[in-house]
Formats: sequence, C-alpha cells, structure tokens
Amino acid sequence: MARDDLTTRQWLDALAEPAQILTWAMSYYIEANIKAILSGRLLAPLLNAHQLRDEAFGKFWVAFSSNREEPPPSEQLSPEESASTGSISAPKAEEEKPQEKAVVSSDLIPPIISQATGVVLDVGPGTGTQMPLLAQIPASNIKAFYGAEPCLGLHAELRRRAAAHGLAETYKVLPCSVEQSSLEPELEKAGLLASPDVNGAVGKREDGVFDSIITIRVLCSVPDPQKTIAYLYSLLKPGGKLLLVEHVVNPWTTRKGSLVARVLQGVYHLFGWRWVMGDCCLNRDTEGMVRAVAEVDGGWESVEVDRWFEKTPMVYVAGVFVKRG
Ligand SMILES: C[S@@+](CC[C@H](N)C(=O)[O-])C[C@H]1O[C@@H](n2cnc3c(N)ncnc32)[C@H](O)[C@@H]1O
Repeated sequence: MARDDLTTRQWLDALAEPAQILTWAMSYYIEANIKAILSGRLLAPLLNAHQLRDEAFGKFWVAFSSNREEPPPSEQLSPEESASTGSISAPKAEEEKPQEKAVVSSDLIPPIISQATGVVLDVGPGTGTQMPLLAQIPASNIKAFYGAEPCLGLHAELRRRAAAHGLAETYKVLPCSVEQSSLEPELEKAGLLASPDVNGAVGKREDGVFDSIITIRVLCSVPDPQKTIAYLYSLLKPGGKLLLVEHVVNPWTTRKGSLVARVLQGVYHLFGWRWVMGDCCLNRDTEGMVRAVAEVDGGWESVEVDRWFEKTPMVYVAGVFVKRG
C-alpha cells in the first residue's frame, strides 16, 4: 500500500513520526551540553551553542543512519533488474513503476539514483547511506563521484562505506558545503573547474561541470535554497540530470494535502526541529524552486517528478530534471 492510502492508524503514526526523530536528536543535543558542562566548559551551551549542536547532529546522524538496515540486495537493483527478479521483498509487476509500491521514503531513492551517469556531484551524502545504491550503478556509466559533505564528523563513516562498497577510488569526499563560496575552491582543487582546451590553453568552464547531481534529503537544510539551487543548476552540463528525493511543504490547499500535517510541520519547528536536525526545514517548496530555476533557459528539457505521502508532515518529491542540451 502506498503511504497516500493510509488507514487512520497509519496516518496518526505518520503525523507522530517526526516527533520520534526530534526526541532522539534532542537527546544527543542534551547529552552534548551535559558533557560540556561536566568537563568544566560551563558556558559552552551559551558560547559554543552552534558547535555543540553540530557535533550532536553529527553523532545523531551516524546513529540514525546506521540504525536503518541497508536494503537487501533485491532492493538495491535497478528497476528493470528488480522487476525481473520477482522477489518477495520487492515484488514489482513489469508494467508497474518502481515507486508505485512506495511504503517508506527510502523506497523512492533506488530508481532515482540508478540514473546517475558521468561525473556526479553527491550533495550532502552524510554517512553514505546511499553508497550501496551508488555501487550498483554499472562502473562503465560513472567517471567519478564527488561527495560534498560539510559535517566533518561524518567523513570517517562516509569513507568507510565508500571503501566497503568498492568505491574507495571512485568516490571522492569534498570537505565543504554546496554553497558556491565553499564548494568552488574544492572543485578548483579537484581540477574540475579549469580544463585545457584543444590548443592546450586552460579555459574556464562555461558548460557546467557535472553530468549528474544527486540531492537526497539535503535541500531542506541548505541556508539559502534559491541561491543554492541556482548554483547547482549552473554546475550541471547541458543535458545533465538533477536527481532529487526531498521532503517538502505539505500541499495543504490541495485535495491530496492535509492541513493537520501542515500545521504539525510548523509545530515541530517550534519544538526545535531545525536546531537539532542540522537546520532541516520541513516546509520548503523545493519542487517549486527547482522548477523555477531553469526558467532563464526556457525551462528544463524534461521533468519527471512525483509527490508522495501527501497527507503527512514528511511529504516527498522524487524525480529527475534534465537540463536543456
Ligand atoms: C538528512 S542528511 C541526508 C544525508 C544523505 N543524503 C542521505 O540521504 O542519507 C542531510 C545532509 O546534508 C548535509 N548538509 C547540510 N547542509 C548542507 C549544505 N549546505 N551543503 C551540503 N550538505 C549539507 C548534512 O551535513 C547532512 O549530512
């Protein structure tokens, strides 16, 4: 059953789900503050509040993402492969779209990630939860992955997962956020911004850098989403793909949305969701911003996007946006 056809019990559980996550993340934040005080840094909760909450979020995310089991092999396959296995855990009739049986948000990710090709920017990979899926993409389709992850506390686990899935050489971790001022120097260092032209002279990139950009649950956290999305768009090559799975504002004014869920998105913010969840924002219109960013070029060449779980506070959009060639 898709999460849009919820029973009342399932809907209530879905409304409460962010409360459970919030409580868990908050416990890490409280623990970080108590430890700072006990170690003699009495004023750290006031003077180093940002540092403490970033450390706490890093630890929380390692625990949270490790707590989710990696998908069994049948769920890591491409949609075509999965459909042909006819496995019990992920039964898919040939004519069905892979997401039609989406029960949890992670069900949306495999068919999107499987479309990555060429030089890939993985925005905010965290601890590398998606590494098994990246490793499933045929090696011949990929030149390199670049993971831009600002939370340094997650890098060890990210590198460990890349190595564990055979991507130690292919997956390069960039210690930066995706904002231009932070990412640009790292792209420069990686030699991605300037390339020799046919005459051997070094020319600046004008035609983008990446064939694919992956954003999975990350545009909810970037500080200036409009600016960041515009920058990501500029980094895409013509014909390049933005592969996106993001949670967004509840479409409560439409028949499919829910006013209750929309109100709860605000309530969770009031209870500190953004602070303890690494600035994650539950009520962004990310899809609208992504659609709008290509208007300067007459729109995206193609957009294939679906919305999921529209009665809940964690509404998801999942899709592929192709830049005009
Ligand atoms: C909710 S986690 C998602 C991690 C991963 N994409 C996944 O699906 O499991 C959000 C990640 O985005 C990262 N992040 C937050 N702000 C960012 C920014 N401005 N640029 C790049 N990454 C950012 C966080 O450090 C965190 O690792």
